[in-house]
Amino acid sequence: MKTIGVIGAGQMGAGIAQVSAQAGYRVLLSDMDQARAEAGKVGIARQLARAVEKEKIGQADADKALGNIECVGGTDAFAPCDLVIEAATEREAVKRQIFETVGKVLSDTAILASNTSSIPITRLAQAAPDPSRFMGVHFFNPVPVMGLIELIRGLATSDATVAAVEAFGQSLNKRIVHANDAPGFIVNRVLMPMLNEACFALGEGVATIPDIDAACQLGLNHPMGPFALADFIGLDTCLEITRVLFEGTGDPKFRPAPLLVKYVEAGWYGRKTRRGFYDYSGAEPVPTR
Ligand code: 3HC
Repeated sequence: MKTIGVIGAGQMGAGIAQVSAQAGYRVLLSDMDQARAEAGKVGIARQLARAVEKEKIGQADADKALGNIECVGGTDAFAPCDLVIEAATEREAVKRQIFETVGKVLSDTAILASNTSSIPITRLAQAAPDPSRFMGVHFFNPVPVMGLIELIRGLATSDATVAAVEAFGQSLNKRIVHANDAPGFIVNRVLMPMLNEACFALGEGVATIPDIDAACQLGLNHPMGPFALADFIGLDTCLEITRVLFEGTGDPKFRPAPLLVKYVEAGWYGRKTRRGFYDYSGAEPVPTR
């Protein structure tokens, strides 16, 4: 593989573009328009500059990585891509539309992959030109820091597709795990019930937000407590994935905590709205309960 297309220049897409460019791939980075793609590249430049400052990489490597990324306004320029990774908004209709559009320009050997955290891969594959060359490739936020990629094969995904994407993931220096196309795959199947349970515990008055976070950080050695992590991921995303687990398994143990639902209904999505379980409008996060 030489050329990677990344659709969506938000936090995940930009992270995927950055690590791919640092591994030496030529990257075409697209978003709804050229300006948004360029904004994603500006963020990547900032990350690379920080890495140079910290002497983790040299200036020449940072320049080379940035030079490997070309921003494009749509997916018409994706014809030379060997692998296209979609990291657009987590809405099935949007993703389907993207696959249909990009599918028209891709070569008949190119692989199309989705960074979806929760939509079934087998179902998404129906919008791809060839479901045997379609699969899930789930990165974690922040992409340059997190060492894992989950690979998810749909019912029709071929062994050759899995092998090619696995080799790509390894070339990024990430540990690869394989998951079946089941709700939440591995990480979210395990993580979301923990975050959801923290919301139940808070709602039932078991402890405060800072104490539950401190308990998990210091008692379990987690880098962030569940509320800090839920705010980091986005409470809307956490609720959406929890609903996928609940609806996909039919198991009441996955029912969303009423408090999580309320926060999302209030528009308190976490860091991205500057208010979730913490208020981020000041210098330091302040618990909201
Ligand atoms: N991009 C690149 N690098 C970043 C970064 C970003 N957005 N944020 C932090 N970093 C780097 C910093 O530069 C620093 O590097 P250094 O140690 O070499 O100097 C390192 O990460 C640590 O950062 P900080 O010192 O600023 O802060 P922390 O020590 O608090 O670490 C954290 C921040 C890496 C986010 C850490 O708290 C963490 O690992 N949290 C858990 C994150 C997690 O669980 N992510 C998965 C979410 S689930 C998911 O993505 C799946 C989806 O489907 C929901």
